[in-house]
Amino acid sequence: MAKPRPEDICPRPAGQEPSTTVPHAPPIQLASVWQCETTQQANQLLEGEISGYVYQRDGHPNADMFADQCRLLHGAERVVITSSGMAALAAAVLSQLSQGDHLVVSNQLYGRSTQLLTAEASRYGVQHTMADPHDLATLPDAFQDNTRLLVVETITNPQLRVADLTRLAEVAHDHQALLLVDNTFATPALCRPLEFGADLVMESVSKMMNGHSDVMLGMLAGPARLWDRVPQAVAAWGLASSPLDCWLALRGLGTLPLRLNRASANAQLVAEFLSRQQPLVESVQYPGLASHPDHQLAGQQFGDQFGSMVTFNLADGQPAVDTFIEAAQNIPFCPSLGELSTTLSHPASTSHRKLSDLERSNLGITSGTIRLSIGIESADYILESLAGAFSSMTDS
Ligand SMILES: Cc1ncc(COP(=O)(O)O)c(C=O)c1O
Repeated sequence: MAKPRPEDICPRPAGQEPSTTVPHAPPIQLASVWQCETTQQANQLLEGEISGYVYQRDGHPNADMFADQCRLLHGAERVVITSSGMAALAAAVLSQLSQGDHLVVSNQLYGRSTQLLTAEASRYGVQHTMADPHDLATLPDAFQDNTRLLVVETITNPQLRVADLTRLAEVAHDHQALLLVDNTFATPALCRPLEFGADLVMESVSKMMNGHSDVMLGMLAGPARLWDRVPQAVAAWGLASSPLDCWLALRGLGTLPLRLNRASANAQLVAEFLSRQQPLVESVQYPGLASHPDHQLAGQQFGDQFGSMVTFNLADGQPAVDTFIEAAQNIPFCPSLGELSTTLSHPASTSHRKLSDLERSNLGITSGTIRLSIGIESADYILESLAGAFSSMTDS
């Protein structure tokens, strides 16, 4: 038999098979490039005059399918899916700002977001002022004539403070600036910032939006009036998403409301349980507790659920944390969040390790601070795991 030549092996697109049935799950289209029929068609596709795909970095069907769902969930006119949450923030910065612009940056953002908006942005001539978005009396002082953007998180890490989105949008708009909200901790199942007056919303889809610890993606949503430069910024800076990740995230998104509902109910029970663990536990932060400074605001913005994150401080600091992590066998130390199962993180040694002691203490973080991302296991399983860890601590 003749040896096959390489060109015989090389797979060729087979074309569409005629079919009378429709698959009840979306296909994954991994193609990096699409065939054009004529030069005229290629030109029209590349100019965006007709819809269709040419090159994966400029757009692909799986990103569009996922974007459509995000658009509906957020009530947004436009959505772009990016390779990570950081890429979504980069897309916002690169599409909305120019040299000489100024940013007001929440002093409680995710560390890498702060890095992008301060150290990185300043290299391109975009200056910033850090401000506390929960102090609405002093926040206006941070604005300048050239301020273009105020950037906040719906729920902060790890203190779980809740942003008053309506008031923040008013402050930004009074200064002819836009409000960009990082909604990662809340997700659209808990909060839709555009409905409260935010101009742009972004999320790390790598977290609860996908929910299965197997995707790295981001999402940026907003109105058509702010979208002129977004597709170009995403394509030119190479911020585009992968089809497989979009396909997985679309599958994950289908269960988001159920997962958030269950995780929020579990988190409420965990927060109440932790509040009863004095003197080992010094304090507990959860927006669903009446003792939380933003409890009422959270109720107004989120309804009757308060999210999946719970933070608490162990009184005996680092040694207590080490014992707790070792004893909490069923709660792995994973410095991320929004997974199916309950995980814990230690901000002082992970997300906030680069800050000085003073900066950490200003954010209420001590060496004894533990942040729990509550999952969808049975409440009994989580509470028993925590109770087991606390009893090992008292035994040791
Ligand atoms: C609040 C928040 N925003 C943005 C990001 C960045 O997202 P990604 O890791 O998908 O780039 C993270 C990641 O932890 C985050 O926690």
